[in-house]
Amino acid sequence: MPSSYHYHILIFSLLLIHYSSTTTSSSAASYRPKSIALPVSRDPSTLQLTAKVLQRTPPVIIPLTLDLGTPFLWVSCGKRYLSSTYRPVSCGSPQCTLANAKICKTNNICSTSSLKNPVTNISPPSGGELATDVIRINSINGSNMGKTVTIPNYLFVCAPMSLLQGLAKGVSGVAGLGRTNVSLPSQLASTFSFSRKFALCLSSFPSEDGALIFGDGPYNFASDIDVEVTLPSYTPLVRNPVRPSEYYIGVSALRISQADVPINKSLLSIDSKGNGGTMLSVIYPYTIMETSIYKALITEFDNILKTNYKSKRVAPIAPFEACYDPSTLPYTRIGPSVPDINLVLPNGVVWRMQATNSLVYSTLSPNQSAYCLGFVNGGSNPRASIVIGAYQLEDVLVQFDLAKSRLGFTTSLVPDRIRCSRFKFNSVV
Ligand SMILES: *[C@@H]1O[C@H](CO)[C@@H](O)[C@H](O)[C@H]1NC(C)=O
Ligand SMILES: *[C@@H]1O[C@H](CO)[C@@H](O)[C@H](O)[C@H]1NC(C)=O
Ligand SMILES: *[C@@H]1O[C@H](CO)[C@@H](O)[C@H](O)[C@H]1NC(C)=O
Ligand SMILES: *[C@@H]1O[C@H](CO)[C@@H](O)[C@H](O)[C@H]1NC(C)=O
Repeated sequence: MPSSYHYHILIFSLLLIHYSSTTTSSSAASYRPKSIALPVSRDPSTLQLTAKVLQRTPPVIIPLTLDLGTPFLWVSCGKRYLSSTYRPVSCGSPQCTLANAKICKTNNICSTSSLKNPVTNISPPSGGELATDVIRINSINGSNMGKTVTIPNYLFVCAPMSLLQGLAKGVSGVAGLGRTNVSLPSQLASTFSFSRKFALCLSSFPSEDGALIFGDGPYNFASDIDVEVTLPSYTPLVRNPVRPSEYYIGVSALRISQADVPINKSLLSIDSKGNGGTMLSVIYPYTIMETSIYKALITEFDNILKTNYKSKRVAPIAPFEACYDPSTLPYTRIGPSVPDINLVLPNGVVWRMQATNSLVYSTLSPNQSAYCLGFVNGGSNPRASIVIGAYQLEDVLVQFDLAKSRLGFTTSLVPDRIRCSRFKFNSVV
């Protein structure tokens, strides 16, 4: 428990951080970035996306799995959590309210029941205690370390060690990027007074990092001539009343070559139990679809490929079903060229998934490789009918705007010779 002196300092800093746009607390004042970019790696065995921050005093490197829907940052604390700047959060405090935490534990410690492992969906029965500590983020400048930004009283949740099961090896917790006022993008935005938004650009090369950019662009990429990518399309974010921290969009149809895939449209809306609809999640390596939607999509796609190109279907390569002999597909200079899979959104906006995001090159043995439709069967009762996964976001720039409740997105950057792995980190800080 902090002394009451510390308690008041804590509240004072919190109020400064959240309610002042012109004053800063002393430790955050010296350097105020317009945006902050973090390199994003992919864990080779789980395919989870990870990023690193520094936490505690003295600082420790904390690798975290990224999750779009998790409401806050959580780390396993346990006995090895040593930090002179660690402060538990008291029941009834502004931080407790901000985090919408409703449990009060012994010693007046504010706790939340929303703590959950996004991979296993396991929640510890005792919930998680709220605390604050220093977080530092190393900005990257080209191949050099850039300046370090400091968030003095970062609000996070302490989890038991066992909750790490199912996360990538070496990871200490989850960086929650959710639609809440205590998620990483929200706390960075309020600390540095920049926009409550973040962008993701996932690399399609396993060994090269993509980027997670908090705050405003510009989004600059290295190429023969430096390019700035702007977002051509936006669509409103939809709120799921049961899972308000997740990012949903209003897909009304799936369309291939001007024809709507015949599906049960009621699966595309969110029902009173919070099931159905279309959400985004980078926890899943590939887009998942409710069985009937999945089957309808494969049938339609397969018909078009067979009719238009006489493409030859080959044995499935798990987790995919619709796989094709590579020599029977049409090509352009960037790879196979098949009809786009379009997600139809409100106001005539369409999310075009081109072959770079719809086909996965899969190998069973040296002699057996195929291009497979990169979507996975989600069974008959998934919580969302469509979950747009990481593969469909590779070499695409997506921007999650919490303040404006909208999602901005590009089509694949590959035809423009732009890769997420070439994001210019030194352009943003
Ligand atoms: C990034 O590095 C370049 C060259 O090394 C330097 O000129 C520039 O000032 C650095 N930018 C920041 C924000 O540190
Ligand atoms: C989050 O913050 C915004 C802007 O400060 C505010 O309008 C909104 O009511 C807050 N939401 C919650 C759930 O506290
Ligand atoms: C369409 O989906 C809804 C929601 O799952 C279900 O209640 C309804 O029976 C389905 N309709 C048909 C025709 O399958
Ligand atoms: C793979 O191809 C090689 C040469 O084309 C052949 O000798 C070998 O039997 C093939 N292996 C299988 C498992 O088909």
